Amino acid sequence: MAEMNSPGRNGFLCICIFTITFWINTYTSAENGFKANYSKSGLDTVPKNLPAQMTDLDLSYNSISELQISDFSSLSKLRVLNLSHNLIRELDFSIFQYNKDLELLDLSHNKLQTLSCIPVTSLRHLDLSYNNFMDMPTCQAFGKMVKLEYLGLSARRIQESDFRVLANLQLDTLFLGLEHLTESVPGSLPAFNTKKLWIALPENSEFVSLELNVTESLELSNIQGKQVSGLITFLSQPSKNGKLLNLTLNNIELSWLSLTAILQRVWESSIEYFNINYVDILIFEDTSQSLNYVDTSLKALTIKHAIAVSEMFNQEDVYRTFSEMNIASLTISHSGILIMFCPLKPSDFTYLSFSHNSLTDKIFENCRNLALLETLILQNNQLKQLSKMSLMTSHMNSLKHLDLSQNLLQYEDNMNDCHWGKNMIKLNLASNQLSESVFRCLPANIQILHLQNNPISSIPKEITELTALEEINLASNKLASLPGCGQFRNLRFLNIEMNSVVSPSSEFYQTCQGIKQLKAGHNPFTCTCELRQFISLQKQGSMELVDWPDAYVCEYPDYLRGTLLKDFHVSEVVCNVSLLITIVIIITVVLVATASFLCIHFDVPWYLKMMWKWTQAKHRIRKSNPEDLLPNIEFHAFISYSEHDSEWVKNVLIPNLEKEDGSIRICQHERNFVAGKSIVENIIDCIEKSYRSIFVLSPYFVQSEWCHYELYFAHHKLFSENADSLILIVLEPIPAYIIPARYHKLKALMAKRTYLEWPKEKSKHGLFWSNLRAAIYVKLSSNEEERAFSLI
Ligand SMILES: *[C@@H]1O[C@H](CO)[C@@H](O)[C@H](O)[C@H]1NC(C)=O
Repeated sequence: MAEMNSPGRNGFLCICIFTITFWINTYTSAENGFKANYSKSGLDTVPKNLPAQMTDLDLSYNSISELQISDFSSLSKLRVLNLSHNLIRELDFSIFQYNKDLELLDLSHNKLQTLSCIPVTSLRHLDLSYNNFMDMPTCQAFGKMVKLEYLGLSARRIQESDFRVLANLQLDTLFLGLEHLTESVPGSLPAFNTKKLWIALPENSEFVSLELNVTESLELSNIQGKQVSGLITFLSQPSKNGKLLNLTLNNIELSWLSLTAILQRVWESSIEYFNINYVDILIFEDTSQSLNYVDTSLKALTIKHAIAVSEMFNQEDVYRTFSEMNIASLTISHSGILIMFCPLKPSDFTYLSFSHNSLTDKIFENCRNLALLETLILQNNQLKQLSKMSLMTSHMNSLKHLDLSQNLLQYEDNMNDCHWGKNMIKLNLASNQLSESVFRCLPANIQILHLQNNPISSIPKEITELTALEEINLASNKLASLPGCGQFRNLRFLNIEMNSVVSPSSEFYQTCQGIKQLKAGHNPFTCTCELRQFISLQKQGSMELVDWPDAYVCEYPDYLRGTLLKDFHVSEVVCNVSLLITIVIIITVVLVATASFLCIHFDVPWYLKMMWKWTQAKHRIRKSNPEDLLPNIEFHAFISYSEHDSEWVKNVLIPNLEKEDGSIRICQHERNFVAGKSIVENIIDCIEKSYRSIFVLSPYFVQSEWCHYELYFAHHKLFSENADSLILIVLEPIPAYIIPARYHKLKALMAKRTYLEWPKEKSKHGLFWSNLRAAIYVKLSSNEEERAFSLI
């Protein structure tokens, strides 16, 4: 344990963590290792202390002039090392002796003059082209690098013996950069053991020795002058080119006549794919001589970046040369062509691409001879009218895929003039000038539709259904909401990123359930309640939101700008009005019910009534002036009760009324009755000297004759003097039927319900007594004064 906590251990951990963080920040961790890109970093040596896990190291375009064994010895995992475009003069292959996994080594465009060879047997790709070698740098060691697939070489001088060592290898590609060739030994190049031979011929030189034996692929760059005739000769010799399947020519300058000669030879050869890139065609001669399109192996001709160098030429002759070709695939791109003719007889073309030219709406007008055409690419031309394009396809019964992107297409929505080919399933109308009217001019069975980068602001409701449509790309338009899918019931993929979508339409949720993938990032989302359903789409998992969460950001309201939709939360209650109302109602009902329950359970109305009476009594007491002192009043109250209730009166009522400081005086017959007077006199006396008369009512009281007398007297007084001198306390409930009929006064009083009920609950007693005391309290002249006064 002690060791675990020692400083040394901690320091080691710190370094580890630091190093890991450092790697993560500096290098990209690829799926199978670490990559580092130091290209164009102004380095003049290989960086030190590279992590040992390094697999891919790009040091191209620096000023490194020397390599040392220590540069790479620690990088035992290194697979790719790109040192191209540096200033390295010498190379000893033994510096890679610790890089047992090194597969790719690019040393092209350096200053290498000498090479010390040992076999690096792991190498698959080795590029030594464009260095300062005088002779081909083919060491004996190459013969042992049996995994080599690509080998790039350059020299100023070649000899047949240079390539002997390669005879053992099974190369895929041999590249010979011979631009700087100054001397060549006459004779033919040997038969290379490679699938593809790629030769950059010396520019403007006399090198004509295209005596090649090739397999499968040949790529030749820089063909001018005499090399053109060398090429024609080569192509005329089936013994030399008999196995050739792919021929690519780059950077050519030739006459129209040479071009047709080459094409004729190719037509007659075994070549299947013929590519010409960057060709200047000098058209001065007679162009009327047409090719003889014999049956051919050729499948595809691709011409890119062709320029016709000519003042004037017979366009018909030139373009017919291409339009009448009996091959499946023809591409002429980046060549500024203005027209292309409809073939004169039913054509074999299944694939035509004329992208990046200057073709106009006249292209293939009324053309009925392209019935086999399946794919037509007219990207980036000068096409303007969508309806003309639809008419063009109306006779192309096999056409499935049409690319009209990057043109100037518009659709004038005034006639029913769209007639698309019956079998079209993929249409690319991206980057045009199409508005929403385009939806009235679409092929009925279209499955994949590209409309990105147009000024479409809505999808009209009243369009014909596109039941086959599975995929639509509406990115970079001007749509303000996610559209509904009512017209595209089978839509699976919708791309609507980079529009002006603030929130999805309700129709979207109702009709677009079939969508599997939705790409809707980079829109100015308004983060309000309406958006919650959209955000929940991701959670439900029925629809994949492509680029979630990073591309989905709130734009409005201002305080949420920049918040990821993923982090936008708003509660159900805030958004759902009916829920809100329901909750308010429930709360109200609960409050009312609670209040009612409390009222009933704790007899709140009783308390309120008592408090009210008590307040009134206090008010009365406060108002009464000393002048109002009642004459002849000695007692606050006279108490009348049945003998049966005397226990309660004596033990409870009187002690509670007189309780405090004796400020309340009670007239009670047992206590205050004057001897010698009759009972009735005493009672009357007592009632008259009392401010109030308290009657303790109970079933016994009602039945007592005496009590009734007392009540009679008191009531009499009530009418003669003070209107409210009578206080009735109901000690026990008195059913109305037990009150004898003759006691109608009592009945009337009871009916008025102006009595106090003796509460059973102890908790209410306090208030009961205060109330009663307040009701009987009045300022009486002090006892002594009173006595003295009465004595006089
Ligand atoms: C080496 O880097 C250069 C420049 O970045 C690049 O053109 C070249 O293709 C790279 N080599 C390989 C074999 O990838």
